[in-house]
Amino acid sequence: MSDFKDKIVIVTGGARGIGGGISRAFAEEGARVLCADLDDDSGAQLVEESSSMEGTVRFLRADVAHSSECQEVVETAVSEWGGVDVLCNNVGIQPANSYLPAHEFPEEMWDRIIDVNLKSFFLMTKYCVPEMKKRGGGTIINTASVQGLQSMQGVSAYAASKGGALSLTRQLALEYAEDNIRVLAVNPGTIDTPLVAEAVDFMGGDLESLKKLWGKAHPMGRIGQPREIANVVLFLASDKASFMTGEYVCVDGGMMAKGAWADSE
Ligand SMILES: NC(=O)c1ccc[n+]([C@@H]2O[C@H](COP(=O)([O-])OP(=O)(O)OC[C@H]3O[C@@H](n4cnc5c(N)ncnc54)[C@H](O)[C@@H]3O)[C@@H](O)[C@H]2O)c1
Repeated sequence: MSDFKDKIVIVTGGARGIGGGISRAFAEEGARVLCADLDDDSGAQLVEESSSMEGTVRFLRADVAHSSECQEVVETAVSEWGGVDVLCNNVGIQPANSYLPAHEFPEEMWDRIIDVNLKSFFLMTKYCVPEMKKRGGGTIINTASVQGLQSMQGVSAYAASKGGALSLTRQLALEYAEDNIRVLAVNPGTIDTPLVAEAVDFMGGDLESLKKLWGKAHPMGRIGQPREIANVVLFLASDKASFMTGEYVCVDGGMMAKGAWADSE
């Protein structure tokens, strides 16, 4: 039987892109998935699709940069289904107009990126951990990025948020190891989602040519698909990864293996 039959899973930013892939993957395994997102249309589509899956998806509109809304998400999972087993802190933004050197970076944009990409991970954890403790354990999977390990110009807030997510993953793993709560991270390479599609706005050109160009930075010669991240998230959240905590996994077609040589060939 699936590790996730009837498990209660929260996915932030779970309506589309990588989060949509994660929500679908858990629901296909029989989980009850609470998708917390701002995108009503994608949320409604996901809920409709889930009617043919073994599990269920419920959509809750929430801005997880705000404490009260994170609290409401967790309270909803508890009141509807009785607790929380898995938290996927997946939400993340990298606005197309945010590619700027640090001295030109608007302070409000810095705050918003850090609040969504990092503070929400803390807030969701803060409210989920007591519920996980009541159930004897749980897992928290954070979507970080290869940009938490290596970077590029113009992404100071995003890179800082992802480095913070990796550091937070280690920290939380230590804090909750004795409570049987494992905390892990995935670092996607470039993945085919609406977030990267928005990059066309500042890079110009057409999306398909850009995908081919980005693919060249990955030794496997292509960018990834949301399901390829979701599959690893499922593994990390499962009992098959029962002795893993405080660690990250790069799911990047070999990008980090190649590292700084990537641009030189
Ligand atoms: N796509 C990539 O190439 C890539 C690479 C590395 C890491 N990541 C990370 O993966 C995660 C998912 O990225 P994606 O590419 O699927 O992005 P996406 O923009 O396609 O999806 C993100 C989802 O988050 C939701 N969201 C945004 N702000 C929110 C908020 N404040 N509260 C609740 N929901 C909110 C959006 O509505 C959307 O459904 C992010 O953490 C991102 O940084 C993506």
